[in-house]
Amino acid sequence: MIDRPASHPPAGAPPVPAGRFATAVNKDVPVAAPGEFGALQLGEGQVRGVVPVWPPVVLAPMAGVTNLAFRSMCREYGAGLYVSEMITARGYLMGNRLTTLLASSSPDESPRSVQVYGADPVDLGEMVKSLVDEGVDHLDINMGCPVPKVTRAGGGSAIPVKPRLLARLVRAMVQNAGDVPVTVKMRKGIHDGLLTFEEAGRAAAGEGASAVGLHARTAAELYSGEADWTAIRRLVEILDVPVLGNGDIWEPYDAIRMMRETGCAGVIVGRGCLGRPWLFRELAQAFEGVEPDRPPRFGEIVEIMLEHGRRLVELFGEGVGVRQMRKWTAWYTKGFHGSAAVRGQLMRIDSLEDLERAVAALDMEEPFPVAALRAQRAKGSKTQSVKLPEGYLEDLEDDTPPKGPRTLEEIRSWEKALNGG
Ligand SMILES: Cc1cc2nc3c(=O)[nH]c(=O)nc-3n(C[C@H](O)[C@H](O)[C@H](O)COP(=O)(O)O)c2cc1C
Repeated sequence: MIDRPASHPPAGAPPVPAGRFATAVNKDVPVAAPGEFGALQLGEGQVRGVVPVWPPVVLAPMAGVTNLAFRSMCREYGAGLYVSEMITARGYLMGNRLTTLLASSSPDESPRSVQVYGADPVDLGEMVKSLVDEGVDHLDINMGCPVPKVTRAGGGSAIPVKPRLLARLVRAMVQNAGDVPVTVKMRKGIHDGLLTFEEAGRAAAGEGASAVGLHARTAAELYSGEADWTAIRRLVEILDVPVLGNGDIWEPYDAIRMMRETGCAGVIVGRGCLGRPWLFRELAQAFEGVEPDRPPRFGEIVEIMLEHGRRLVELFGEGVGVRQMRKWTAWYTKGFHGSAAVRGQLMRIDSLEDLERAVAALDMEEPFPVAALRAQRAKGSKTQSVKLPEGYLEDLEDDTPPKGPRTLEEIRSWEKALNGG
């Protein structure tokens, strides 16, 4: 258990209503006081353009999750920055069909934000130039991926171990991004004995990154345990660019607490919004100083789930769209009475009509269960021993880019592995 300091809400914070819909940890956390938090400024104080983000809330890039369909659902509830899932540089440059689809946007998506994944400076530069030409407003690079296939090749969360390599990759992006802000997302390090975030954060900022996002877990921890918000506070202390805090925002009040406890400039929300796109409305309300609405009842959630399904079908076509929807049904129905009994049926749906039929017998009036607020929605609690390339730690000054996938076949196999991570 991490020893977290008490929050210090400023004078003027609105009183907390009795009977608030929250878990014990958030029962007494006041929502924002007037003027307590400002917009997240990406690119401020630099030669480059500023993207102001209000509220300072970012949808975490999540592979297999934050495609255009889900981003559009979230955006309709709230405001902030909604980042694409990671887009592999090689796949994008070679015009791989799925990569192109995952990178796609719609004309009303503004600001448009894309997370890239790559470890070759030439590829990254070329990709960034092309995305900027397409009109992208914000670029992030994934340096936190813990998937063994990736770290074993020296990519993802292995990159920050070598600050000069990290610097080289960030430089390649910044130099090709024109006035579009570039941010870096990383983890604390490989494991507790090999923490990299301080030096890596400095290297990223030194190369012109507009902000650094920190998922406050190590690659060995994967998604287990409680995120270490003290590391976020430490990064805020040592960097002069905004820090985005990431890890364990399940309720809107968690975001307010994280901002108060760490001084971070914005929060990145991952698993908490899986099957809960309305979390972004609750977050916007908490930052506006308004007590958030209660979550929808089950019947409303079924409508939201079906709308999400329609958007996935529109993006991917019926076969892939409905198959994608299967995992979402588990997240949307989590914790509701009788949902476990229909889970098997939900995992086999072949159409949205099947989905409607599977949940028809459940109680449409049931309110959202408080126990579902902090329930695991993906990934679980396993940990791992991180795989690095042979001899990787012998020369930490080395900035040679690791080998990534080159052929379309290799790219597809990587993308499959990344989706699992
Ligand atoms: C299903 C899933 C897919 C993910 N894919 C990515 C990704 O593509 N890029 C990335 O930087 N992080 C990825 N992550 C990590 C999240 O962005 C985030 O850092 C992590 O979930 C911690 O935040 P949370 O505690 O709010 O979930 C993924 C996480 C999940 C659960």
